[in-house]
Amino acid sequence: MLTADVPVKGALALPEDGVAVVQLEEGVFEALDLTCTHLGCRVRATENGFTCPCHGSRFGPRGQVLTGPAAAPLHRLASRLEDGVLHIAGKAGT
Ligand code: FES
Repeated sequence: MLTADVPVKGALALPEDGVAVVQLEEGVFEALDLTCTHLGCRVRATENGFTCPCHGSRFGPRGQVLTGPAAAPLHRLASRLEDGVLHIAGKAGT
């Protein structure tokens, strides 16, 4: 995926791929799995992070748990930045 689409200090969710890309600061990216660590629902991006529609867990912008019942942060996915394109391990087409 093109990193130019990700706002600085923001996130771009790609629900069809089950991932979100977060730009923590200029040029620093992280890829997060959108699978809730509670029981596996798909979390949604919000202005301040991510929320789970199933049981209300909330996660911060880096995937850290803000409110349970989830006890573990969203999983980080291995990624590699190359010429402005972020390649995410195991996610074809991103
Ligand atoms: S599956 Fe997300 S809070 Fe339960």
